[in-house]
Order: sequence, then C-alpha cells, then structure tokens
Amino acid sequence: MTTSPKNAPFGSILTDTMAIAWYRDGAWSPMELRRTGTLEIHPAAHALHYGSSCFEGFKAYRHPDGSVQVFRLARHIERMRRSAQALILPEPDPALLANMVNALVDRVRADVPEAPGALYLRPLLFGTMPNIGAASTPSNEACLVVLASPVWDYFAGGIRPLKILVEEQAQRCAPHIGMVKTGGNYAAAMGPTLAARKAHGVDQVLFCPGGEVQETGASNFLLIRPGHILTRSLDSSFLHGVTRDSLLTIARDMGYRIEERVFSVDEMMTWIKTGEAALSGTAAVLSSVGTLVRHGVEYPVGDGQVGPETLKLRAALVAVQQGQAPDPHGWLTRV
Ligand SMILES: Cc1ncc(COP(=O)(O)O)c(C=O)c1O
Repeated sequence: MTTSPKNAPFGSILTDTMAIAWYRDGAWSPMELRRTGTLEIHPAAHALHYGSSCFEGFKAYRHPDGSVQVFRLARHIERMRRSAQALILPEPDPALLANMVNALVDRVRADVPEAPGALYLRPLLFGTMPNIGAASTPSNEACLVVLASPVWDYFAGGIRPLKILVEEQAQRCAPHIGMVKTGGNYAAAMGPTLAARKAHGVDQVLFCPGGEVQETGASNFLLIRPGHILTRSLDSSFLHGVTRDSLLTIARDMGYRIEERVFSVDEMMTWIKTGEAALSGTAAVLSSVGTLVRHGVEYPVGDGQVGPETLKLRAALVAVQQGQAPDPHGWLTRV
C-alpha cells in the first residue's frame, strides 16, 4: 500500500489480503486468507438478483502499547447473524467469523494506522446459489468475505459541524427491515440523499417518516444537552448502532440521563434552539450537527458550531477505543 489513508476517501484503500469462506452442502468451509481481488461469481447468483446480502463495519485500533485491538467484535458478529437470519441466508458461524477477523488483522497488522486512524473491517455475506427463479426461495449457498481498509476521517474536513436535511416524506427503507444491515437499504436511501445534496448542499439526510425522527443514511441520531441524551428507542425500522449503544453506556456511566423514545421533528426543532444534535456510527464516531434544513429553511443547532457535550462524549468513547482509558465493559479484543 502506497497511499496514506490520511489523504484517501474513507474506505477507498484496501489491504492486500482478505479472508474468505464458503457455505455449501450445509456447512462452512475452512477460512482462507488470500490476495484481495476479484471473485468468480455466477451471474445467476441469488444476491445479484434478490438482494440476499448483508455486511458489517467496525474498527481495529493501534494502542499506545503497540497492540492492535478490535472494538466490539462480538456485538458486530451478533448483528451480522441477525441480519443473515432476517434475509434467510446461511448464518455465519461466530467462531469462524471471529477467526477470519483475527487472522486478517494479524496478517495486515503493519497496515493498521496510528490513532486517530484505524483499520476499518468489512465482513460481507451474500447468497451465491445460481437460480434466477428463486425470488421466494432462499439461497442455500453463500460466500463470507472480510475486507480491511486503513481509514482516517469519514467526513472530509475532520471535526466540523454537519448540515443535515430533515426529510419528513421519504423513508430510508421498508420499516420492517431497517435494523438489517443490507445493501438494499443503502440503495433505497441513495436517491433521496443525492437529491438533497444537490438541492441543499447537505452532508446527509435525517429520515423522519411521518414526522418521527429516525436516523440518517449511515448513522444514528442523538439529541444532547448537559447530562441528558434523547434518541429514538430501538425498533425494526432503523439500524441498532453499536456506537449508539456504546455512547449511551458511557454516558450512563458518566451520570447522563438517557431517554430512549419516539420523538417528533417539532420536538427536535425546539431542542436544537439551545441543545446539541449529533450523528453516531463506526465511521462518523460522534459528529456534531450544526444546521438542520427543514422545508428549505436553515436552522442552526445551538450556535451552529461543534457542540461541547458532543465533543466530551466523543472524547470519552475514543479514549476507550484507542486505549487511553480503561475498558470496563470488555469491549476490546486484542489481536
Ligand atoms: C444506516 C445506519 N445507521 C446507523 C449506523 C451506525 O451503526 P454502528 O454504530 O454500528 O456503526 C450505520 C453505520 O454503520 C448505518 O449505516
């Protein structure tokens, strides 16, 4: 690898090695490390026609003691198993997937950037059964791949206040499948997101179908003020972010009151007159929202700058991830 992740868009550089395993005849093959490159897939493969694919995204960090540590591996494996179940795909064996991640990280250890960079890990599971008449028949074959990408900042320009469009009509995806990390959900959000960027120059769209605040195309959404966080309660309509869970746990430990419930766009608009808003996710970490655009009008969130509570919570999470603070919940796996 010659390009520094500092200068490359998030996810655009891959390590030279990937991990791969196949599901055939009712069993997973042993995993293999091989050179990152093309796979030969039948054009009738189930995933290409019927969208039977899901993925995960999480990071490994280089710690001050030189070790490399994966953040919340078990939780991400569990979410991928639930995604596979929802899509009626062969479930990845947790031990197999953990082994693939560990072996890959170990092999590409030298490519893990120094903090605040990280190695982004991307497991992908997709149905390979060659059958174009299988719209209502699950794939009985699958491929499981783990890719790795050295990364720096997700939003170009580092820590800056984001501009977000409030979308009250379109939904990100069908409400029963939002909690599944499947490509179709991202494809569904692409049109509204690109249209919003073009029309309003925003970074992301906050989906609020029926006037209820949900999430953006690639992150969860939190309202924050001193000692208090409000975020939507978990249901099937949006992704159950591991960063969201980690931040709520850390904030609870710090004495914050955590309110998880359905709330309206009107309530959010009142909150942002004095409070903060932020996006949470593996890539976004916790990124301040500076402006909300609603019905074509721009509303500053607080003073429109990066919020101090947001920065405080972000720093507390990053300190655990990067090994500068204790890990009381056992979230890190040493490779
Ligand atoms: C739609 C969506 N919501 C939320 C998240 C945040 O999830 P996590 O914190 O597990 O990365 C992501 C990012 O992965 C996402 O794509």
